Amino acid sequence: MSSAEDLQRIEREALAAIAAATTPEEIEAARVAHTGRKSPLARMLAGIGSLPPEQRGPVGKAGNAARQAIEHALEERTSAVQADALASRLAKERVDITLPGDRRKVGALHPIMQVRREIEDIFLGMGYAIADGPEVETEYHNFSALNTPEGHPARSMSDTLYVDGEHRTALRPQTSPVQVRVMERQEPPIFAIAPGAVYRRDDVDATHSPMFHQLEGLAIDEGLGMADLIGTLEYFVARFFDRSLESRLESRIQPHFFTFTEPSIELHVRWTDKRGRSTWLELLGAGVVDPNVIEGAGHDPERWTGFAFGMGLDRIAMVRHGVPDLRLMYENDLRFLEQFA
Ligand code: PHE
Repeated sequence: MSSAEDLQRIEREALAAIAAATTPEEIEAARVAHTGRKSPLARMLAGIGSLPPEQRGPVGKAGNAARQAIEHALEERTSAVQADALASRLAKERVDITLPGDRRKVGALHPIMQVRREIEDIFLGMGYAIADGPEVETEYHNFSALNTPEGHPARSMSDTLYVDGEHRTALRPQTSPVQVRVMERQEPPIFAIAPGAVYRRDDVDATHSPMFHQLEGLAIDEGLGMADLIGTLEYFVARFFDRSLESRLESRIQPHFFTFTEPSIELHVRWTDKRGRSTWLELLGAGVVDPNVIEGAGHDPERWTGFAFGMGLDRIAMVRHGVPDLRLMYENDLRFLEQFA
């Protein structure tokens, strides 16, 4: 067999193997087998030196041409296989952009939290800061510092959820201990609100829950008194219930009793429900801070005076939305909550 015929066969076999390769791995195997150091082509070219001199030139040339043809075929096949792979991947991963998307549910604040944020905004606008205090509170901050003497009904087991046998710590039954904590850590003037959860063993019915939310307010400065309290509350009611200051929501103030304010009041608003029935509704308790409380927290009650108030956020949310049963607010049934989103 002549060298020319050998070369033709070598090239034919190489091109056939390359054409049959369908993956990058098979192409690589064909490249090693047909152009590698141990390939028939390489051996053939290595043998050129032992040919008669007049054959070396033509055989060398033909051998190089065969090598070039094989390498060209490898390149072509590589791009073809890559293009095939891409095309099949595109086909497999095709996205139908005309399909409707999955509807994303958008979360919303709980109605009580919405009311809380709204009230916070009103007081922030009046220069109040937001303060915080623990929900598990000491007997001192819950009662003694608030001028609530031992034996007072507010301390009794029936109201308060104690967390230890000695009654030294309890879940706070009101946000008022935060008044004391703010006064302990800050020099007057003080303008602070403290929203948060409170706990009572109260009889649980449609308008009471063992856990509910209050928002406490405290203002301490020189010369602050009852008139400032009433003006602040009237402004708050007008702002929150969306009435202009000219046509106020009807409200009234009644005397009341709290151990830590003197005098003390309750603020009621005239509320008309969706059936047109009108009632007076207690919105909050308030009063002029008792000098004992100011002195106990480390300030001179001759110089510093002020007022405090505490409102029930859950109550206010019920009123705002005309919700008849407070318990609905805590069940977290989406059919209920979605209505306030
Ligand atoms: N803490 C009182 C309550 O829970 C409300 C209140 C707060 C009254 C501040 C006076 C001053 O009823």
